[in-house]
Order: sequence, then C-alpha cells, then structure tokens
Amino acid sequence: MKCEIAKNIYWVGAVDWNVRNFHGHTYTTKRGTTYNAYLIVDEKITLVDTVHGPFAHEMFERIREIVPVEKIDYLIANHVETDHSGAIADLVKLCPKIRIFGTQKCKEGLQKHYYGNWDFQVVKSLEKLKIGSRSLTFLEAPMLHWPDSMFTYLGDDQILMPNDAFGQHYASSRRFDDEVPEADLMDEAAKYYANILWSFSGLVVKKIEEVVKLNIPIRMIAPSHGIIWRKDPGKIIGAYTKWGKNDTENKVVIAYETMWGATEKIARAISEGISSSGMEFKIFDLAVTDRTEVIKEMLSAKGYLIGSSTHNNGMLTNAAGFIDFLKGLKPKNRLASVFGSFGWAGGAVKEIEKILEENGIKIAQPGLSIQYMPSPEELKRAFLFGQEFSRNLL
Ligand code: FEO
Repeated sequence: MKCEIAKNIYWVGAVDWNVRNFHGHTYTTKRGTTYNAYLIVDEKITLVDTVHGPFAHEMFERIREIVPVEKIDYLIANHVETDHSGAIADLVKLCPKIRIFGTQKCKEGLQKHYYGNWDFQVVKSLEKLKIGSRSLTFLEAPMLHWPDSMFTYLGDDQILMPNDAFGQHYASSRRFDDEVPEADLMDEAAKYYANILWSFSGLVVKKIEEVVKLNIPIRMIAPSHGIIWRKDPGKIIGAYTKWGKNDTENKVVIAYETMWGATEKIARAISEGISSSGMEFKIFDLAVTDRTEVIKEMLSAKGYLIGSSTHNNGMLTNAAGFIDFLKGLKPKNRLASVFGSFGWAGGAVKEIEKILEENGIKIAQPGLSIQYMPSPEELKRAFLFGQEFSRNLL
C-alpha cells in the first residue's frame, strides 16, 4: 500500500519486525526497527536513502507501486552505514544512470563499502539541488553519528530528513507520531539517543543551534528509523536539546554485578538509603538486565552507583563490558560512587573508580568495599552510604 507522507513524497522503506540486536550486539531492539527511505516524485525522481540490504526487494516493491524503479534519477545518500546504503548497489544495477549526492566522506565511505564505479556528486552544507518544482537543501552533520552524515531539507514541503538523528528503533504498522503511544515513542527515542548519540552531545547541540539560526520552518521530521514526527517536531528537538546539554533529573541508577549475592545485598541496602532520602532510583543487575535499557535510564539520571564483586583483582565481566560501553558515551554533569564485596584482596571498586574518573565522571564519595557477606552493621553502613550519596546529589 502506498504511503504518501506529503504531496508526491512517499515512504518506501521497510519494517524489520524481528531484529533484536543492532550494531553487532551493542544495541538490543526489543521493538524491532524500520529502515526509512523516501521517494520524491518531481521532474527528477529522487530517492532519499535506501534500506538494509536484505530488505532491498521490499523497498523496490514499494517504489514500483508509485513509479518504475528504473525511472529514478537521483539518490540522496545521507549516510554510509549499511542499514541505509545496503540497497544502493542493487539500485545502481536497475538505474545505471542514477546520480548519487552526498558528502565527500560519504563518497569515500561508499567506495570503501561497495567498491562501485558510481556517478557521485559531492555536496556541501547549504548547497541546493533543484529537482523540478522543489529544491533540496543539504546540511552536513558530521558525527551525527558518522563523519559522512548529512541532513536533507525539503524547503517547499518544510520537511527535514536527518537520517539517523531523531530516529528510534521502533517497528510499527504506523508511520506517524500521532498514531502510536507517545510514552513508547519517547522511550525508544531516549534509548536511541543514549546508546547512539550521547557521546556526540556537543555536536548535537551545535547542530540544533545551527538549524535554529537558519530560521527554516520544519513541519515534519522524517528520520531514517522509526516513526515520523509530524504532530509536534519541536518535541523531539526539545528532547535532543535537553539530552545534548546533559540536563538530568534527581534520580539514581544503581547498576551492579554480584558473584554470590553479597554485592547485591549491598546494592539493596544502598537503595534503601537512597529511597529514605526521597530520591528516585532504579536498580539493575548487569548480569541479567539488558544493557541498552540501563544506559537509557542513565541518560536522565544525575547519580550513578556502580557495583561489582572483586574477581581476579578486578571487576566481573558483565560489569567490565558495561563500564567500557558507558565510558565511550562520555556522560557529563554526573556524580558517581562505587561499591562491592571482596574475598581476600579487593580491586573492583578501585578499578571502577579509576575508569570513571579518567572519563570525566566525578566520584562523589569514597567507595564502599565489604569483605565476604555484609554483616548487619555493614548493611547499615551501606544504607548510610546511600543517604550520603543522595545528599551529595542535592
Ligand atoms: Fe541507521 Fe548510522 O545507521
């Protein structure tokens, strides 16, 4: 069925209902995802982005409902990553005269992915491309989230196509924000930002400021994943501004891994201390909880309490993977403290503190290390540790 998102502009993407891991296994997609491509029917028939390779046939089928694929004149390649470029090689076979537009980095990146001899025209920020009754305006967006990334703005239709930015991994039979539950949509948007864009927050804020200064009307944001923002595009721009500025709430995330339950007991006692201070908290066992969801919760939290039992003089393996992922996201304006149990020689608490400090996360108070199983007195210390942490946040 044709999906016309604006006059003569069609969604021709694919819904990947069953994907559960993205970017290798760095991101779990419990709601699946979509690969959004858009077809603009004008004097020059123009496709904006393609889809993940295994879904190329689905995109071509959708296009064929509107025009013969062979009639496409232009492809706008906003991003090299294969979930958006995966059908280009097949497209070029069907349309050997197609001209591809993108950034210099896109040209280089596509070459290193597909080794094709394609007709590629490099475009720069604010360059326009007339495709008939419409003009497209390009806006380079390096590191949102790859060096090649670019936004395309359809000024005549007031539609921004920013590729990955403002996206969500959210499979649905619906295409628009006013057709899906807002809480689910914002939850997926936050998860997406936290796990993919957080480390580029400075650039996100700068790019939004740059777009605002252009003073261009935007009535719709059509990203390359998930739902299209048409009800209130300002909502997701506002959320990105907040996340990009590392604005937080008085909330604590306690994330730990335990070997025989001692660190878990400490975590629970700390959480009671947090709770007694009236502070909101969420608590996660890193060995059993989806890391993607924990990271999402950390996006809005001001305080992080990280725990691990000591194993081989360091932290446990799930905690280690988690810390390694977290440090790459470069959270700012947060306070953290560390806790954990040990047997004969500690190590995990110091190791975690060192990594957090080296990555700009301030340690609020000395860590809490407890040998073997915590005694009632030690659990009381853990409770007070939680209370002290709450006070440090306020
Ligand atoms: Fe959705 Fe960076 O690819």
